[in-house]
Amino acid sequence: MTSTSPPTLLRIRGLRKQFGTNEVLKGIDLDVHPGDRIAVLGASGSGKSTLLRCINFMEMPSAGTIELAGQAIGSALPQRHDGTQRRYTEAELTRVRQRAGMVFQQFNLFPHMTVLGNVAEGLRTVQRMPREAALEKARSQLARVGLAEKADEYPARLSGGQKQRVAIARALAMEPELLLFDEPTSALDPELVGEVLRVIRALAQEGRTMLLVTHEIGFAYHFANRVLFIADGVIHESGTPDEVLKHPREKRTQDFLARHNEFSF
Ligand SMILES: Nc1ncnc2c1ncn2[C@@H]1O[C@H](COP(=O)(O)OP(=O)(O)OP(=O)(O)O)[C@@H](O)[C@H]1O
Ligand SMILES: [Mg+2]
Repeated sequence: MTSTSPPTLLRIRGLRKQFGTNEVLKGIDLDVHPGDRIAVLGASGSGKSTLLRCINFMEMPSAGTIELAGQAIGSALPQRHDGTQRRYTEAELTRVRQRAGMVFQQFNLFPHMTVLGNVAEGLRTVQRMPREAALEKARSQLARVGLAEKADEYPARLSGGQKQRVAIARALAMEPELLLFDEPTSALDPELVGEVLRVIRALAQEGRTMLLVTHEIGFAYHFANRVLFIADGVIHESGTPDEVLKHPREKRTQDFLARHNEFSF
């Protein structure tokens, strides 16, 4: 690496993931630099969620390496395998999951905890922050997503858009270096999509590093500085939003976009 190259926040090499005999990811190579906003597109079942889940080790990669800020996660087991399989410690994975925060399609809030409790939970149990400090930090994160007044509500009494903003506040509370969004708006009624996309856009303007799986092609175009199209377990095409979304080179990408634009006029 020369001194002029930008630092790499996330470096993925040869990432493979199989479930039984179903090999979903067949060798993903990806470099993410600080401030990158990467939109990930692909057909249903192409492995987009699996990729995000491998990046924060909710799924264990079958092969390949993932480095965060120059540090490879896990250690190789060359004596037992082909050198690509790795061993991970729980403490290490807990740290990685804080550094790469995930926001899910279905929010995944704890229903028995208040909104404030949900946002403070990771601060208390994972970061071992004292109660008052955790609650104060949680309150400030709720304010960032415009939900300060909902702190004492339970998730069941919120709209989907509000639930998703709580989930974003919860992820932000851990001060992640990287945010992973897995179709954060696809469970929402159309009129609630905008409020969540506005929060994500504000995070982009702060210069946060993000990977976003989405079917909102128009949003991806304006949000991303790089777009990946995943097919057959690999990054089939990548480039700027103009390159991939307006002038795709690959037929698979063209067909995918044509299907997505079928009903837009
Ligand atoms: N835990 C699992 N166990 C077994 N198979 C799985 C598991 N998770 C995902 N898969 C399989 O991996 C493939 C890719 O799934 P994944 O959820 O990553 O796709 P996706 O691109 O996110 O799709 P969608 O757009 O529908 O969300 C699918 O064939 C799926 O059935
Ligand atoms: Mg998915």
